[in-house]
Amino acid sequence: MRAIAITVAILLLAYLLPTAYLNYSEPVLKWDWASIDLDDLSFPEGFIWGVASAAHQVEGGHTGNNWAAWEQGSYPDGRPHILNNEETGAACEHWERYPEDIRLMQELGVSSYRFSVSWSKIMPQEGVIDSVALQHYVDVCDSLAAVGISPMVTLHHFEHPLWFEEKGAFEKVENIGHFVHFSDAVFNALKDRVTFWCTINEPAVFVIAAYFDGNFPPGKQDPQLAAIVLKNLFKAHVAVYQHLKSLPGGERAQIGIVKNMHQIDPVNEWSLLDRLLARTVNNGFNGSFITTFRDGHYRFHFPTLVDEAEAIADAPSTLDFVGLNYYSHNGMAFSPDLDEALKTRMYPGETPTDMTYTIYPEGLYRAIQEISVLGRPIIITENGIADAKDDRRGDFIRRYIYAVSKAIEDGYDVRGFHYWSLTDNFEWDLGYGQRFGLYHVDFATQKRTLREGSKEFQRIVKAHSNWPDR
Ligand code: FCB
Repeated sequence: MRAIAITVAILLLAYLLPTAYLNYSEPVLKWDWASIDLDDLSFPEGFIWGVASAAHQVEGGHTGNNWAAWEQGSYPDGRPHILNNEETGAACEHWERYPEDIRLMQELGVSSYRFSVSWSKIMPQEGVIDSVALQHYVDVCDSLAAVGISPMVTLHHFEHPLWFEEKGAFEKVENIGHFVHFSDAVFNALKDRVTFWCTINEPAVFVIAAYFDGNFPPGKQDPQLAAIVLKNLFKAHVAVYQHLKSLPGGERAQIGIVKNMHQIDPVNEWSLLDRLLARTVNNGFNGSFITTFRDGHYRFHFPTLVDEAEAIADAPSTLDFVGLNYYSHNGMAFSPDLDEALKTRMYPGETPTDMTYTIYPEGLYRAIQEISVLGRPIIITENGIADAKDDRRGDFIRRYIYAVSKAIEDGYDVRGFHYWSLTDNFEWDLGYGQRFGLYHVDFATQKRTLREGSKEFQRIVKAHSNWPDR
């Protein structure tokens, strides 16, 4: 009897001690918001306040890219892929209405606009540059400059020409040269107007959606291929960085990549199996980026599913800054059934957004900590909330920006913050239902209206800008 009791006690301790230790050393960070003064904010001089968008989501008029084909059912499976069969169509008509949208930016008081240039519009066919399309972005930059707003340009934001997709896109390392060629054309056209360049937006998000879950074009579900594409995207970043730096004007350019540090946390912190699973997935999604850009070593590993590794020795020397996108975290719960185990879950006990994740401002603080191991200046390139009712946006803004301010106060080198997004727009496979805009868009009339909750952003930007009111 006694022996049984001792064995049970030992087993319990063997379980409880490591879990208690992990809960202490790797807690899912939680703050006591009731005791926090959300107005206690401070930002260094020259802190960049901005808004962000992406070409395919706002411009309208995309016909020859991977997304247009995906929306219209021209991939081999022949079916449309967007929720409710929506298509991007005219989107926010930002291509024509950018002067109006720049006025909205002025109304907010921001000093930076992060947007992407459309590869499929600039290079509709292989090797062919559409000079009118390129000139469009020159005009956008000039219009921004005229009102004192700096452009930040993203070269690849989930969208590329169909001819590139048909060649196998980033599945093939030999295709990287096409992306370098495109980047070269854009850089030469815009380099006198643009300081900050983002090569690739959220490589891991793109790859998981396009090659693992199959929700983004080309809709494949092949973990090993996903790991190869991710590696090739990192190599593509390195190639573009090195090429642009070698061009006249390259030394003045600030070039970085954009990483979404969405965390994967255990649903039950007292379950070692949940922890192990969350850690493994997190290592793939976030760890592969960190080891590549800190150590020059790429590895994507998930037992029984995928193992891909290769040195990318130059990667650590190819970041002038790192772009950080952050929205939230998800929970993982262990199950012996792999499909069940790999389901990401809404983290329990937190307020949901309209997306499949919660409001988790502490996570932005953690993301800043996590990415700071790269030792580079951090610019927050996206943060925002889908909130159609606008009943959480104001609070969201105050809390996430508080997290940024606290990180800066604690010594982390954060230089700027871009809100996603200026206006409602086309949220990829989820279509127009997800309302991320500071400005509501009535897509029937294209009327933009500042949301109540967004006024918190406007207020904070105006109070913490070194820029005179424009
Ligand atoms: C990010 C994307 C951006 C937008 C936001 C909501 O993952 O970079 O285009 O869709 O999510």
